[in-house]
Amino acid sequence: MKILAGNSNLPLARAIASYLELPLTDASVRRFADEEVFVEIHENVRGEDVFVVQSTSYPVNDNLMELLICIDALRRASAKRITAVVPYFGYARQDRKSGPRTPISAKLVANLITQAGADRVLAVDLHAAQIQGFFDIPTDNLFAAPVMAADIQARYGTDQLMVVSPDVGGVVRARALARRLDNAPLAIVDKRRDKPGQSEVMNIIGDVKDRRCILIDDIIDSGGTLCNAAQALMDAGATSVTAYLTHGVLSGGAVARVEASALKELVITDTILPTEAAQDCGKIRLLSIAPLIGEAIRRIADETSVSSLFD
Ligand code: R5P
Repeated sequence: MKILAGNSNLPLARAIASYLELPLTDASVRRFADEEVFVEIHENVRGEDVFVVQSTSYPVNDNLMELLICIDALRRASAKRITAVVPYFGYARQDRKSGPRTPISAKLVANLITQAGADRVLAVDLHAAQIQGFFDIPTDNLFAAPVMAADIQARYGTDQLMVVSPDVGGVVRARALARRLDNAPLAIVDKRRDKPGQSEVMNIIGDVKDRRCILIDDIIDSGGTLCNAAQALMDAGATSVTAYLTHGVLSGGAVARVEASALKELVITDTILPTEAAQDCGKIRLLSIAPLIGEAIRRIADETSVSSLFD
């Protein structure tokens, strides 16, 4: 087995390799003067089971191109099996036609990864589980929930806890986390705009009064969804609001928005390399899922069950 890292998240790739007690494959993934990506693998990979670790996070197109070119280099070097380990799968939110004459970019990206020569895909908390079906090669979708649940139990316990989904679309994810927290009760924030131009009304389904709320979502991008939900929960009488998010996209002024928000703490996993601003923000804490990804890689290589990681 070999682990090859793109440049999108080297600390995560190193942590995965260290979990597996393997060195990273000796390779250069660099740019020519005109910014074209060039990959050169400096050791023999013929007949090897190779895992390429690359999140397609910002700058998404560069990181995607690196992933495709790494896969191409491995295929041409006769690797036996190539698994694209994409902890954060960019373009995932473009998973359906959002209007007439719009693309389904998540499907296009799935086609590109497959056509480049990947034999398998390993992702974490895909925005929609159906994206697995965009690939016609085996695709494992890992869940960060067990890692989050262990952290919540250790830091906060389960007394007076309430798990909250910040929108209706995230209820399945929130319910799965609540089940791991002694079946904690569930609430849902329902965003409504009754008429165009009117401000958003946040209806809360469930009684959050005197509850310590845990908001859970897959992505924090601008932070709008999460910060508004946190404020609505505090206004409804919650004693505190902490958020657990798998993918800290944190674009634009998201970090400042989190800093100024009603959130007590924002916990993100390391699927995306945090920016300096995110690292310096006192309210943001990083939770590593390298052991989870490392264990899944070990099981794929050994051809044992991955799903039993989530029993
Ligand atoms: C949406 O369906 C996702 O699960 C997130 O809630 C959304 O992408 C967060 O975006 P933002 O942080 O920009 O509100």
